[in-house]
Amino acid sequence: METMNNNNGDNSEMKLLANRLDIHRFSEVPKYYVQPAESRADKVMMVKNDSIPIINLGGHDRAHIINQILKASQEYGLFQVINHGVSKKLMDETMNVFKEFHGMPAEEKKIQCSKDPDGKFKVYTSTNYFPNKTRKDGQVECWKDTFLHPCPTSAENMNYWPDKPHKYREIVGEYTRELHALAHKILEMLGEGLGVAPKYIYNKMGETPTIVAQHYPACPDPSVTLGIPKHRDPSLVTILLQEEQVQGLHLEKDGQWIAVDPIPNVFVVNIGFILQLMTNGKVVGGIHRAVTNSKTARTSVVYLIYPSPKAIIKPAEEFVNEKTPTLGKFMNFEDFHAYYVKNGMKTEEEYFKIKP
Ligand code: OGA
Ligand code: NI
Repeated sequence: METMNNNNGDNSEMKLLANRLDIHRFSEVPKYYVQPAESRADKVMMVKNDSIPIINLGGHDRAHIINQILKASQEYGLFQVINHGVSKKLMDETMNVFKEFHGMPAEEKKIQCSKDPDGKFKVYTSTNYFPNKTRKDGQVECWKDTFLHPCPTSAENMNYWPDKPHKYREIVGEYTRELHALAHKILEMLGEGLGVAPKYIYNKMGETPTIVAQHYPACPDPSVTLGIPKHRDPSLVTILLQEEQVQGLHLEKDGQWIAVDPIPNVFVVNIGFILQLMTNGKVVGGIHRAVTNSKTARTSVVYLIYPSPKAIIKPAEEFVNEKTPTLGKFMNFEDFHAYYVKNGMKTEEEYFKIKP
């Protein structure tokens, strides 16, 4: 990025936000971060967040847990889990290692992402044009930096993983193994609740576990910006670790926004749009967004189970009958994801015509 042609000064926007020394001097955010009025979070009615289900995965009544997961996946598309089996120590270490990652110099982050010959380790700002694409005219940017990479449970290709910050491989390796087990446990219970075999979902769709560390620097004007605009995750399921004490995640339900405030030792589970589609709408993907705040940066660690690249994204035959015919064009996940990255929420209406 430092090597980019910067002769008119206009390319300063291409720098990672976390490494921009000028952002705290802005009295107004640059215009390309200003969201259209209808997307902003400034005037929306917020509902109290005590309605979002909290599910105890450590309970002994399996049928009860399955029912709770199914109900939450149908009504909210998002829920929180406690007694999930991941230690507080590992959750804290993971959060800290990603905060450290985003705190490193931009050049170092780039080096740490450059070991994989397939280029699947990425660090970029806003959407996905960093470091060598240019912003299109009129494109509204997200107030965030993103770092991501695939994280298969085998130690395969661990030498591509960052070796900075200290202990990255050890901590994130352990975290992603535990989150994989947790994601499978949730998908299996959901499968049971839906009346298919427990392993049906990931056996049918395959899986590409991926870790994403979102970083939202403090923003001079949270009333006009967003960290991420409203979306459903293009995953089967997502498990999100929020930074304690820093609010930012919102869920949309029945046209209203609910703050999903962080609770220590709790994971947020998002049903992904791919699962909504695969179940022909039997469960729904949670519609959510992240807002910014002016006081402090916020980091979140997002673990996603994407399908495998060649899985065909369409309702599975188990969920299709005459009353619920399927509509839409179908493509494999690789193509779907490319389309999604480009078009976001429009993907649903245009391609699948499934009601939310
Ligand atoms: C995401 C996302 C929310 C957050 O990365 O898809 O919705 O709180 N993140 O960072
Ligand atoms: Ni999301």
